[in-house]
Amino acid sequence: MNVRDSEHLIAELNQQEPYQITDELSDADLIIINTCSVREKPVAKLFSEIGVFKKYKKPSAKIGVTGCTASHLGKEIIRRAPAVDFVLGARNVSKITKVINTKHAVEVDTNFDESSYNFAEYRTNSFKAMVNISIGCDKSCTFCIVPATRGDEVSIPSSLIISEITKSVALGAKEVMLLGQNVNNYGRRFSSSDEICNFTKLLQQISMIDGLERIRFTSPHPLHMDDEFIEEFASNPKICKQIHVPLQSGSTAILQKMKRGYTKENFINRCEKIRKLCPEATISTDIIVGFPDESDSDFEETMSVLNTVRFEQLFSFKYSARPHTEAMDFDNQIENSLAGERLTRLQTRHTQILDEIMDSQLGKIHRVYIDELKPNGKVSGRADDGKLFFIDGSEELLGRIIDVKVTRTSRGALDGEII
Ligand code: 5AD
Ligand code: SF4
Repeated sequence: MNVRDSEHLIAELNQQEPYQITDELSDADLIIINTCSVREKPVAKLFSEIGVFKKYKKPSAKIGVTGCTASHLGKEIIRRAPAVDFVLGARNVSKITKVINTKHAVEVDTNFDESSYNFAEYRTNSFKAMVNISIGCDKSCTFCIVPATRGDEVSIPSSLIISEITKSVALGAKEVMLLGQNVNNYGRRFSSSDEICNFTKLLQQISMIDGLERIRFTSPHPLHMDDEFIEEFASNPKICKQIHVPLQSGSTAILQKMKRGYTKENFINRCEKIRKLCPEATISTDIIVGFPDESDSDFEETMSVLNTVRFEQLFSFKYSARPHTEAMDFDNQIENSLAGERLTRLQTRHTQILDEIMDSQLGKIHRVYIDELKPNGKVSGRADDGKLFFIDGSEELLGRIIDVKVTRTSRGALDGEII
């Protein structure tokens, strides 16, 4: 979501005057720090980064802070770091050309509705397009700051989504990544139209776009994963067979305290349905350990879901207490050292599972979409199920979907040869 917001920022700036991206801090006329605030660490990092930028930047260069930390700290950022010229919250991206010319501008309205705003075109990789389908989040997971920084959930009109994807396909994209906090809650609320559409129907419409070959999306919510959606996922050949299903915890008691709206059994049932209809699908997840009150047996429940579902990718975090969240005030916050031990156990077990999955890949054939040039005569791309491949090759392979045989396995990426 933040990567796409950064592209939108660049697109809007380029409408006013052409900008070039530089790796040299001392060359930059404008420095934008696009921030996350989902855990505490990146917020602390922001202020140390501002210090570094201030020291090495051109004296005339402006510094802007955008994104979720901008939304939740607002003018406090300029008070703590007066070197910052402007603060622009998530969901206010379209105002970038306004704030860069107003000293100490602060635009952090979380009710601002950008759902029908037609952003200018800019993509860092023309082979694959990220496209937002909704903004904000209507859930109230007790650990999560996002509803406070990105505001209420609003779906983007399907006509706008279709025209954006069609445009990106005409410019060379064969793959789209649909983005939203809760993609499968699509259609819950539009800002002004009387449109009726849900995620499954949106996927069907998108898959009719000529020249588009692959559809990915992130993230669906386990609660909204109905049978109709899973059937579409399994049967639509354009939908990539990789799905991220955020678990958060395997303990029903903790899930209740998190206000996630599903039980351990519901979650496993959804994953089993996916596997039954689509055995080749890879499932990935997010897990938080050390949520307030998490006992040893709650944590064992999480381990048991890991062992049952065997997630191919795992994004795991120690719980971090955040402002504007209910869980911040819960009793029985867990010791950092205990959360650390649990995280290590979870990750160690996941690594074993991943090694087993990857080892079984030797000699297998995947259809890989080559979308990046790498150093040392290599290109990279992803298989339909999300596996990352490195292959010997050069520029002429870019943008092609080819059959590749796995020649060497490792945890992160597979080596392959074209067959
Ligand atoms: N502490 C730790 N992890 C969190 N996440 C969200 N809020 C927190 C928090 N307070 C994780 C969730 C979410 C992912 C994007 O970040 O697992 O799915
Ligand atoms: Fe946060 Fe929950 Fe919304 Fe995801 S669904 S963004 S975890 S509040």
